[in-house]
Amino acid sequence: MGDFTPCPPEAVTAAEIICGPVELRAITDRRGSAVWKATGPLGAVAVKLGYSADGVTAEITTREAAVLDALPDYTVIAGRSGPDVWYVTTWLDGPSTWDLFEPVRKGPDGRVTALAGAVALCRAVAEFHAAGWAHGDLQPAHGIHTPAGAKLIDFALSLRQGTLPWRKFEGGMTHLVSPELAAWINSGLQPVEPSPTADVYALAGTLWTCATGRWPLDYDAASIDVQLTSPADLRKAIAAGIPLTTERPWPQLQSALGTVLTVPAADRPTAAELGDLLMDVQL
Ligand SMILES: Nc1ncnc2c1ncn2[C@@H]1O[C@H](COP(=O)(O)OP(=O)(O)O)[C@@H](O)[C@H]1O
Ligand SMILES: [Mg+2]
Repeated sequence: MGDFTPCPPEAVTAAEIICGPVELRAITDRRGSAVWKATGPLGAVAVKLGYSADGVTAEITTREAAVLDALPDYTVIAGRSGPDVWYVTTWLDGPSTWDLFEPVRKGPDGRVTALAGAVALCRAVAEFHAAGWAHGDLQPAHGIHTPAGAKLIDFALSLRQGTLPWRKFEGGMTHLVSPELAAWINSGLQPVEPSPTADVYALAGTLWTCATGRWPLDYDAASIDVQLTSPADLRKAIAAGIPLTTERPWPQLQSALGTVLTVPAADRPTAAELGDLLMDVQL
């Protein structure tokens, strides 16, 4: 990450209003969007910048700041730096769901913590849905397990139910797009809306991925080379049905998740129900 985009001075000033003098740590910089952790004597914040030349990620960052502003549990300060848009929000301290499951991917250790985290993530998604939102991009990096419970991040694609999508929605992480959403996106009939039901598919797929280290669908069995397949063709195959990967390192957990990933959308549990199902999973 040698040539990480510079953090705009306006964003640093906003971070310093909250934290005092800050030190910046570069976290990610991809597809015209960068994140830093700014740490000072009074606390830490995440700074996110949308800076793509076409202005699209600035627009997305503006929208994400508006979502954060509407969520009572989150804080946000947002602003511009020339054509770019940044926001500052509380740094959520803790491992991502992917990180929380790391010991599970290596062997039988860590299951108690991972399962508690999985249930907490389901509850966080359930609360988000109960507040009237769909996330649209649940994935292993978008749950953070803080001492105060699991929290969601990256609301760039989130939609308040009953409102129109603000721009064309083509799903979040393609590997975790539900079959019915994949078919809808490929039909070309916009507006496509992220839904709580599709979120539950992505939630189960997220936990499957965290537990096994692989995306849930067995592309090899379907003779699909992911590297050579366009997102549209991948969605076509997902909509037609691809079997789940066959490894079962944690059979009880995967049995519960596998049901969510294979039943018709109308039969999928809610996020809260999935959390309850997971509470009964054996270690
Ligand atoms: N509020 C936050 N607290 C802690 N980490 C965060 C926060 N926001 C972002 N991050 C970190 O930055 C990474 C990228 O953030 P994200 O919003 O997903 O950006 P992108 O749009 O590039 O996917 C996350 O995976 C996480 O590690
Ligand atoms: Mg992200």
